[in-house]
Amino acid sequence: MLEIRNLTKRFGTVEAVKDVSITVPDGAFLVLLGPSGCGKTTLLRMLAGLELPSEGQIIFDEQTVSDGDRDWSVDPAKRNSGLVFQSYALWPHMSVKGNVEWPLKVMKMAKEERNARVQEVLDLLDIAQLADRYPNEISGGQQQRVAIARTIAPKPGVLLFDEPLSNLDAKLRVEMRTELMRLHRATGATTVYVTHDQIEAMTMASHVAVMNQGRVQQFGAPADLVERPETAFVATFVGTPPNNMVPIVKNSTGFKVGGRHMPLTPPADDCMAMFRAENMNLAEAQGETTLPMELVETSAIAGRTMVTGLRDDLRLTAIVDSPPDARIGDTVHFQLPSQPDSWFGPDGERIA
Ligand SMILES: Nc1ncnc2c1ncn2[C@@H]1O[C@H](COP(=O)(O)OP(=O)(O)O)[C@@H](O)[C@H]1O
Ligand SMILES: [Mg+2]
Repeated sequence: MLEIRNLTKRFGTVEAVKDVSITVPDGAFLVLLGPSGCGKTTLLRMLAGLELPSEGQIIFDEQTVSDGDRDWSVDPAKRNSGLVFQSYALWPHMSVKGNVEWPLKVMKMAKEERNARVQEVLDLLDIAQLADRYPNEISGGQQQRVAIARTIAPKPGVLLFDEPLSNLDAKLRVEMRTELMRLHRATGATTVYVTHDQIEAMTMASHVAVMNQGRVQQFGAPADLVERPETAFVATFVGTPPNNMVPIVKNSTGFKVGGRHMPLTPPADDCMAMFRAENMNLAEAQGETTLPMELVETSAIAGRTMVTGLRDDLRLTAIVDSPPDARIGDTVHFQLPSQPDSWFGPDGERIA
């Protein structure tokens, strides 16, 4: 079990991580998902023991390894965790085999056992044929595999990854995603994986913590985040395409969306309506719940068409069956369903 309890990290006046509490079972694949600067790396560095928490505890397998309240933590090398960074610094003067073997030498593993483990790990990552090459003789994707092999060689109980695929090209990224999931199944190690890419998160995770401005906005299974986002931030950060979030304006005669009166019945005067893109449509002509918008983008998505419209600050995306009979720049009528899928308050919390 991995438990993070009321964890806070301050750098001077900056609160990088704010009161984070998460518990995942052994063998979980936990993804920390959020935009740049939200505190993901800081949280991961605390898990690795590279950063001392200001407050709160980290517990691996019922053993406290960091305690910010007591200014105490177990050394990175002694806490049974392994960290893979975005930039995978391999030792340039050592061969692939030498790089992977190094942490085992540090552990003083006997030579025979060491050789067997290196071979096992090279096979697992499908890089045995590169064993005698040097880092500058292999590609970026291969270097990343070596970095991962080096990290898993000592069999850490907790594997930590900080955006490990962001330096790879798109095709390689998709391949490595599959590889990492296979590796996770093969090792059974509890994994914490940091990314700002929600597709990566949704495909790999058993558990996701969506972070924003140092706080966990929502913690749950990938499907929970899509089916029931608890905050407007989650609703617009997760999903392909993300949900439409529309401010509702009340005036003396009713409620307005994008400057047009609509027969909506919001649960509060000041709120935002969430419409899922697949529940939006295009109408032939203006109607009771349509909005005229400038067509700004269309693209094919799994046999359907994703259409984006703009009206002042309001941007809406609909998934429709066939491409609209209009060109970019034309006015099209977005059809809103008569009631939204969810309502959110002015503070971003779900209200219905
Ligand atoms: N060593 C540090 N000193 C001061 N501020 C830091 C330090 N490390 C991170 N921060 C700040 O903490 C916040 C979170 O950073 P970080 O954890 O790197 O975010 P992420 O990995 O999600 O992009 C940012 O505002 C960043 O500037
Ligand atoms: Mg980071």
